[in-house]
Amino acid sequence: MKETLENTSAKSLKETLENTSAKSLKETLANTSAKSPFELLASKKILLIVTGGIAAYKAAYLARSLVKAGAKLRTILTEGGTKFITPLSFEALTGGPVATSMWDRPQIDIEHISWAQWADIVIVAPASANFIAKLARGFACGLAEATILATKAPILICPAMNTNMYENPATVDNLKLLSQRGYQILEADSGLLACGSVGAGRLPEPEAILTTALRILFKSPLAGYRVLVSAGATMEAWDSIRYLSNRSSGKMGTHLALCSWLMGAETQVVMGPMVQTLGYSLPSYTEYRIESTNDLLSQMEKLIENCDLLIMAAAPADFRPKERVSGKIKKDIPVNSLALTGNPDILKTLHRLKKKGALWVGFAAESENLLERGKEKLIDKKLDFIVLNYAHGAKSAFGGDSTELIVLNAQGKEIYNSGPLHKFSAAWNLLAQILKDAALPKRTALKDIHWK
Ligand code: CTP
Repeated sequence: MKETLENTSAKSLKETLENTSAKSLKETLANTSAKSPFELLASKKILLIVTGGIAAYKAAYLARSLVKAGAKLRTILTEGGTKFITPLSFEALTGGPVATSMWDRPQIDIEHISWAQWADIVIVAPASANFIAKLARGFACGLAEATILATKAPILICPAMNTNMYENPATVDNLKLLSQRGYQILEADSGLLACGSVGAGRLPEPEAILTTALRILFKSPLAGYRVLVSAGATMEAWDSIRYLSNRSSGKMGTHLALCSWLMGAETQVVMGPMVQTLGYSLPSYTEYRIESTNDLLSQMEKLIENCDLLIMAAAPADFRPKERVSGKIKKDIPVNSLALTGNPDILKTLHRLKKKGALWVGFAAESENLLERGKEKLIDKKLDFIVLNYAHGAKSAFGGDSTELIVLNAQGKEIYNSGPLHKFSAAWNLLAQILKDAALPKRTALKDIHWK
C-alpha cells in the first residue's frame, strides 16, 4: 500500500495533506528537534544486507553510523559477504544480531520471514552483480534472497562492482527490471575502484546511503516538486584578494535544501563562496557555487523557470565596490577611496519570472522591529512566506548552529515560531509548516532514485 500524494484527487498539496489519512505522511510533517538528518533515523528498523564485494568494508562504517543515529539494526551477510568481512565485525560494531544462513541456526525464529516483517526498510550495500542478478530472477537460494522476497518493506539497492560489470547490459537490465518492480536503486559513484580502474562502480558514501534511506522512509510530501534554495553570503571583490561580505554561514539554507530533498523534492542549491558543501553526492540534488550578488542573480535566473518552491535564504551583499581592481591595492591609497554601488535586489528582479502556482519564501534579518519590518518586506518583495530572524544579539541567526525564527504567511499570519532551536530542526519544521499552510499544485512524483 502506497501512502503517497499520487493516490488522491486533491488539487493542491495543502488539500491533500488536510484530507490524508496517511499516518506516515503526518509523521513526516511533525515537528522535530533532530540536530542532523541522521537523527531522524532514530528507532527506525533497518535490515542491512551485505553481499560479496570489496566495498563490504564500507558497510561496516554504514552499520556503525546507523547504530550511532539510533536506528535498530539487524544484519545479514551473504556467503560472499563473509569472505570480505566477518559477522563478528558487525556484531561488535552494532551490538545487534547478525545472520548468515537459513540452515546454520543456533538462534531464534525463521529469520527470512520474521526479519522481513520486522524491517521498516531493507538496504543492500554493497549489492554485487551476482546478487542483483539473483534478485532479478526471484531466487530464494539464501537467507538474504529469501528475506527480500518475503518483505513488504521498501528495498534500497546500492550496487558496487567493477565498472565493466556495472555497465554490462546484463547488470543494467537487471537493475532496470528491479527498478520497474519498485526496488529503489542508488546509482554507484564514479572514481578509483579497488581493482585499479577508474569509472562507475564505487559504493556511494555511507552518508548518501543513509540520507537516501531516509528519503524513502519519509512519504515524500514534496515528490515531483522542484525546490530552489539560495544559501549564504555573497562576496564582492574590491581587488584580487580583498572583498566585502557578511557573516551568513549558509547553514540554514543548506539544511533547508537537504530537508526539501529528504521530503522528496528535486533540489537545487545556489551557494555563496564560503558555504560548506554537502560532501557527498545525491541523486536530484545539485549544488551551484557563485561569488557575487550579480552571479547569484544570473544563476537563479537560469534555474527559476521550473521552480515550484523558491527559498531565498541567501544573504546577498546589498553593495559592491564600484570598481574591481586587478591585483593588490597598495596601502598608501587614500583611506576613503573605496566607492560603493548598489547591487540588484534578486527577489524583486526575478519576480517577473515567477511560475504560476509557485511559492516564494524569503528571509528577513532584522536587528529591531522584527515583525513590522518583516511584514514590510513580505509585501515589498511579493512573497508567499517570510522567515523572520534576528541579525544580532543572543538570538542571532548568523554563523552559529542554532537560530530562533518566526514564519509569516502571505496574509502576515504567524504560522510558526521555532523558539531557540538547532538550524536543522528549524529548517525541517519551517518547511513542514509551510507545506501545511501552502497551496502548491499537486505533482506526480519523479522517480529519481529509480534506475533510469
Ligand atoms: N535579498 C535579495 N536581493 C538582495 C538582498 C536580499 O533577493 N540584494 C533577499 C534575501 O535573500 C532575503 C530577503 O531579500 O530573502 C530579505 O533580505 P534582507 O537582507 O533581510 O533585506 P534587504 O532586502 O537586503 O533589506 P535591508 O538590508 O535594508 O534590511
